Amino acid sequence: MEPTGQIIVALDFDDRRAADELVDLLGEECRSYKVGLELLTASGPGLIRDLVAEGKDVFLDLKLFEIPNSVAGAVRAAGSLGVSMVTVHSMGGPGIMAAAVAAARPFPRLRVLALTVVTSMTTSDLADIGVTGLTSTEDQVLRLARLAEAAGCHGVVASPQEAGPLRAVLGAGALIVTPGVALPGETPGEHIRSGTPHGAVAGGASHVVVGRSVTRAADPAAAFRLVRADLER
Ligand code: C5P
Repeated sequence: MEPTGQIIVALDFDDRRAADELVDLLGEECRSYKVGLELLTASGPGLIRDLVAEGKDVFLDLKLFEIPNSVAGAVRAAGSLGVSMVTVHSMGGPGIMAAAVAAARPFPRLRVLALTVVTSMTTSDLADIGVTGLTSTEDQVLRLARLAEAAGCHGVVASPQEAGPLRAVLGAGALIVTPGVALPGETPGEHIRSGTPHGAVAGGASHVVVGRSVTRAADPAAAFRLVRADLER
């Protein structure tokens, strides 16, 4: 895939106007956006319909963790909006992942991604919720990725550090979407930044999600081009 198609910009805003301004600034150069719970709740689905109508790919990051019937309903609603990717928590088990995949079937563009272990969690956090006996969070990420694959999910969301092991387990066709990237030399925000865009893709990621490195930059279009240049290295 060529680099521009691998970059998903996270529209983490609390109002539609700010999101629209950024989309205008990035123009034709950016083709994919992630809409999360903050913007969806603040602005409603109209923004998503409009992005799709403009020809943008939308990753609707719903992080679903519900009973299978409700997960299926939310995935159908996402499919009706025309989004390209939707997320379900793999920790919710094979039942909800399979329900999400079945609900996505009538929407040929829609890909179901399973969240593995959110990047802020450590082995100690996993032990707190009863997931014990792990030598690393990667063990759990790979276990969940295998479950996701068996349930028919089209890919996973994981940190750049896990992209390589995941690619080895899931094979060439799977989507591996990695948030938590920063440009080389960039001062990390409050997140533990786990890789550059180049590092993530070289490791096996199919897509990178970039948020504040672009959205909070003084010149977002220039920052987007830096991300693309990093991928082209
Ligand atoms: O940190 P940044 O602003 O680039 O985050 C963009 C998106 O990536 C956020 O919407 C967040 O959900 C996700 N993220 C993540 N793990 C991180 C950092 C960000 O899942 N360590």
